Amino acid sequence: MYNIVSASSSTMHWTALVEPRSRLKVRIEASSAVSDYCTRVARNINMEKLQYNYLFPEISTKEIEHMRKYPNAKVISLGIGDTTMPIPENVALSMANYAIGLSTPEGYKGYGFEQGNKELRKAIAKTFYKDLEIKDTEVFISDGSQSEISRLQLLLGSNVTIAVQDPSFPAYFDSGVIMGQTGGFDQESGGYGKIEYMRCGPQNNFFPDLYKTARTDVIFFCSPNNPTGHAASREQLEQLVEFAQENGSIIVFDSAYAAYISDESPRSIYEIPGARKVAIEVSSFSKMAGFTGVRLGWTVVPDELLYSNGFPVLHDFNRIICTCFNGASNVAQAGGLACLSPEGFKALHSVVDYYKENAKILVDSFTSLGLRIYGGLNAPYVWVHFPGSKSWDVFSEILEKTHIITVPGSGFGPGGEEFIRVTAFGHRDNILEASSRVTRLLS
Ligand SMILES: Cc1ncc(COP(=O)(O)O)c(C=O)c1O
Repeated sequence: MYNIVSASSSTMHWTALVEPRSRLKVRIEASSAVSDYCTRVARNINMEKLQYNYLFPEISTKEIEHMRKYPNAKVISLGIGDTTMPIPENVALSMANYAIGLSTPEGYKGYGFEQGNKELRKAIAKTFYKDLEIKDTEVFISDGSQSEISRLQLLLGSNVTIAVQDPSFPAYFDSGVIMGQTGGFDQESGGYGKIEYMRCGPQNNFFPDLYKTARTDVIFFCSPNNPTGHAASREQLEQLVEFAQENGSIIVFDSAYAAYISDESPRSIYEIPGARKVAIEVSSFSKMAGFTGVRLGWTVVPDELLYSNGFPVLHDFNRIICTCFNGASNVAQAGGLACLSPEGFKALHSVVDYYKENAKILVDSFTSLGLRIYGGLNAPYVWVHFPGSKSWDVFSEILEKTHIITVPGSGFGPGGEEFIRVTAFGHRDNILEASSRVTRLLS
């Protein structure tokens, strides 16, 4: 007797006949399998728990399949949150000049400090945390916040319990699964065991009901939120910090979209008194400066954040950075410094404003169709509600009938069912074209 096991990845689909007790793989049928030889290395059981592929490569695969089916269609991608506008010229020039310098004996530089360029650490502390008591020595430069989230997971280890907003950016829960912090996937609830899913939707103004939230060691919290676009208010973040203090939890606060905040919502968790003792903040140049391909971010770990035995988290984080990273690219860091110059900062904010105008166009057109829309004001994401519908069905229908790629909300957790996420990171003509196609479909 054999069990039939099948799985897909972005490059192949395979089916294996597996003898249950011996776990011996006896036959593999793969559309593009490269070998019928298997090593004797067992697959990481945590990887086995992961559902499907990581969401965004999965969306790219759907896009490629659609383009194969309709080779003449003009597909508009408002799916994966990738930036499309060019990097401001002075920022690009600073990277080019740095790179040229590397070809000269005077300009050549090898490894830098693992924690990042000192000048850039200072510039980040001054630009984003002025008056918030964040010291440059508490700022660590990263190669983007997504890899940093995984390094933070390494820091925290497999024995911690985690809470995530539901819906949320998949890297928090997927990295938790990979670390072994979770149980298996439960088809019925659509979530992984042992994760505390903090439901955030229109019914609770996108902020979890903390009275009903179980204590966890770590709380991943993203504001402005991807995918809902909601920026937590000061009162909401005060409640969150108080909750963490009462429970002795650590908040991992993701402020990757802070540059998009248009109202009074806090741009950093450290605007909330007491946060230094309970929060780490990860952030990124990706969506603020079009650095999705350049790769640069930062993380703040305050001195006063301590483990239960009184040991500073910062010391362990520094160790992780030295062992598992080796510092961000020096070319990218030169670009980061140019972003924070007065000229660079002004230029990148005009690009952010362009995307915000796109978001407004999308909000207005979906709203005019009588749909319930969230986000868009403080984030480059518009969160559209289709009550009673499955989000993958809505995704497929919009793709099939308008050739527009969106993201199905359920990819961000069970709380994303009935929603799709539409990104404003497009060129204006595509945003306008997408708006009119959607209007034709839904009006
Ligand atoms: C909430 C959130 N955090 C982090 C990231 C990853 O950013 P980076 O490009 O810095 O890795 C993203 C990317 O989409 C995001 O949406």
